[in-house]
Amino acid sequence: MVEFQNVSYAYDGELVLKDVSFRLKEGTCLFLQGPNGAGKSTLLKIINALCFPTTGQYFFQGNKIDRDCMKDNKFSKRFHQKIGYVWQNPDAQLFCGSVEDEIAFGPRQMGLNDDEIKKRVDDALNIFDLTRLRHRAPYSLSGGEKKKTAIAAVFVMNPILWTLDEPLDSLDLKSKDRLSEFLLGLKKAGKTILFSSHDRDLAKQIADSELYLSENHEILVPASF
Ligand SMILES: Nc1ncnc2c1ncn2[C@@H]1O[C@H](COP(=O)(O)OP(=O)(O)OP(=O)(O)O)[C@@H](O)[C@H]1O
Ligand SMILES: [Mg+2]
Repeated sequence: MVEFQNVSYAYDGELVLKDVSFRLKEGTCLFLQGPNGAGKSTLLKIINALCFPTTGQYFFQGNKIDRDCMKDNKFSKRFHQKIGYVWQNPDAQLFCGSVEDEIAFGPRQMGLNDDEIKKRVDDALNIFDLTRLRHRAPYSLSGGEKKKTAIAAVFVMNPILWTLDEPLDSLDLKSKDRLSEFLLGLKKAGKTILFSSHDRDLAKQIADSELYLSENHEILVPASF
């Protein structure tokens, strides 16, 4: 589903990903780890076409993803519907006036009818324990509540590939357990998942393989998992 071929990426001339190659097969879960600043979030941004390889190539479902193909609105819209992205910092993701509007935003953009939107939003509020917060402004939520809202906003889009950047960040123990169960459920439903985390317990529960980015921004694959 995803293939990186010798991808490097530089911010202002400084390399933060060096010659990264890997494949992610449909229906599998990949755990991305590495120290602060290794390039994990940058890799996830490239997968979501928010930035493009400086050198090397990125393929999604066999299509090379670059600036040119993303200029095709139809292609770009379909691409973004297929991939869900939970940002490391939910403040970068949340922009609507209320939690329920935030969750309804994607389905509205997709042109779903009001009944379907309401059903999806109510389901998501329930699953992520957000029903009592539905009318609150996202900026007024706690860190963990923001993270859950961001995950719920991806859930309603039902993407085939989930990319999650530190999904357990800010969550309390009960919410962590619920999210781990939720991700396991996604996997059982055949979704493809790529997540970064500093939490190896979650990786042990759900990951099929791992990618370790070193502080030198290169892939190191540990001998055992
Ligand atoms: N917009 C930017 N402009 C310049 N440098 C950036 C930018 N975004 C990230 N960087 C730098 O790129 C490097 C990789 O950042 P990235 O956020 O991908 O790391 P990370 O592995 O996700 O780290 P963390 O574990 O702290 O989340 C870091 O040195 C960071 O300071
Ligand atoms: Mg990061």
